[in-house]
Amino acid sequence: MVGYAFMGAAHSQAWRTVNRVYDLPARVRMSLVCGRDTAKVAAAADRLGWEAHTTDWRRLVESDEIDVVDICTPGDSHAEIALAALAAGKHVLCEKPLANTVAEARAMAAAGEAARASGVRSMCGFNYRRVPAVAMMRRLIADGRLGTIRHVRAAYLQDWIVDPQFPLVWRLQRDRAGSGALGDIGAHIIDLTQFVTGQRITGVSAVTETFVKERPLSAASSGLAAQATNGTGPLDGHGPATGTVTVDDAAVFVARLDGGALATYEASRFATGRKNALRVEINGSLGTVAFDLERLNELEFYDATRPAAEQGFTRILMTEEDHPYMSAWWPPGHIIGYEHSFTHQMRDFVEAIATGVDPAPSFADGLQVQLVLDAVIRSAELGSSWTGVEPTLEAVPA
Ligand SMILES: NC(=O)c1ccc[n+]([C@@H]2O[C@H](COP(=O)([O-])OP(=O)(O)OC[C@H]3O[C@@H](n4cnc5c(N)ncnc54)[C@H](O)[C@@H]3O)[C@@H](O)[C@H]2O)c1
Repeated sequence: MVGYAFMGAAHSQAWRTVNRVYDLPARVRMSLVCGRDTAKVAAAADRLGWEAHTTDWRRLVESDEIDVVDICTPGDSHAEIALAALAAGKHVLCEKPLANTVAEARAMAAAGEAARASGVRSMCGFNYRRVPAVAMMRRLIADGRLGTIRHVRAAYLQDWIVDPQFPLVWRLQRDRAGSGALGDIGAHIIDLTQFVTGQRITGVSAVTETFVKERPLSAASSGLAAQATNGTGPLDGHGPATGTVTVDDAAVFVARLDGGALATYEASRFATGRKNALRVEINGSLGTVAFDLERLNELEFYDATRPAAEQGFTRILMTEEDHPYMSAWWPPGHIIGYEHSFTHQMRDFVEAIATGVDPAPSFADGLQVQLVLDAVIRSAELGSSWTGVEPTLEAVPA
C-alpha cells in the first residue's frame, strides 16, 4: 500500500478485517507499506499492521512477493504508480478520483485493459458503492421497482474550509489534487448515481466557485511557497505568507443521463454545519429511493404501486441477512458504519482476483467519471454553456 494517512488507515482496517469477516478464496498478507518519511511510515506500519515499510514505492512494484498494489496517495501520483504496477503484473486498487487529468485516466484505463488480457485486475476505489443501502438502491432500480427514472438529485456537502485561515493543504492545489470539491466529493456522487441508475451522464451545465482565493501556507504546503508567492513568507522569515487556491471550493451542475433522467449535483466544502453529508434521491415513475450517508443503515423507499391508502415512505433498516454485504455481519438491527464500505470493497476485489473476474468499478469507469469532471470544468469556464461528456466505449459497471 502506498500512503498511510486517511485512506491508508481506512484501507488497512479493511485489509486486516476482510478475511476474518468473509470466507474468501485467498488470504491477504499485509506485506509492505510506503510513505515519504522513514520514521512516520515505520510508526504507521506498526500501528496499521504492515509487516515492513519503505520510502520508495518502486520497491512494491519490483517485489516478487507482492501481488496487489493499493494506491492511497493524492491524485498527482496515481497514474505513475498504477502504470508501473500494472506493467509489472500487479493487481491495482487505486483511490478515487482515478487521476488528476483525462489524459492520465485514459492511459490508466488503457493499461488496465491491456493487463486484463493476462489476468491482471484493476479497480478504482469508489467505496460508497459498497454501502448496503446504496447497493440496495441499485438492486431495486435494476429490478424495475422504480419504473422509469425521471430525476436524480445528489449533494455531497462538507464545511472543513469555511474558515479563511484554514491552510493551503494539498487538496486546495490543482497540480496535486486535480480539482477541488468537484473531484474530491463530486466524483463520488457522479459514480454513485450512475452506478445505482445504470445510466451515464451525457452532458452538463455547471458553475464553480473559489470563495477564498488566498490561504495561509502550512508547513505541509510551504514547499510550494516559491511558486505560490513571490518568494516572501515563512521561508524568508517575513511573517505569515499566503498562497493561491487553484481549485474550486464548490461545484454545482445540472445534467442529463442517457436513460432520459434529469439530474442535479452539488459538491461543496462551504456548506457550514455539513460535515460529510452525502445525500441522494432518485424519483422514478413507480417509486422513489432516498439515501443519506449520515444514516447509512437506512434506505427510504416509496412504492407507488401499493394501494393509495397504504402509500408512504418506508424506512428500511439495512441489517437483514439478505441485504447486500450484510450476511457476514451481525444479527438484524445491529448496525454497521463508514469503515465497513472499505471491507466490502476489499472483499469484492479479493474475490474478483481469486476467481479471475473483472472487479468494478474498473479503471475505464474511473476514466468515465474523469470525463464528467472535465466536462463540468469546461462548462463552468464557458459561462455554464451546455457541454457534452465524451462517451467511453465501456458500459456502466456490472
Ligand atoms: N474513498 C473515499 O471515500 C476517499 C476519502 C478520502 C480520500 N480519498 C482519496 O484517497 C487518496 C488519498 O487521500 P487521503 O485523504 O488519504 O490523503 P492524506 O493526505 O490523508 O494521505 C496521503 C498519503 O499519501 C502519502 N504520499 C503522498 N505522496 C506520496 C508519494 N509520492 N509516495 C508515497 N507516499 C506519498 C502521504 O505521506 C500520506 O500518507 C486521494 O486520491 C483521495 O481523493 C478517498
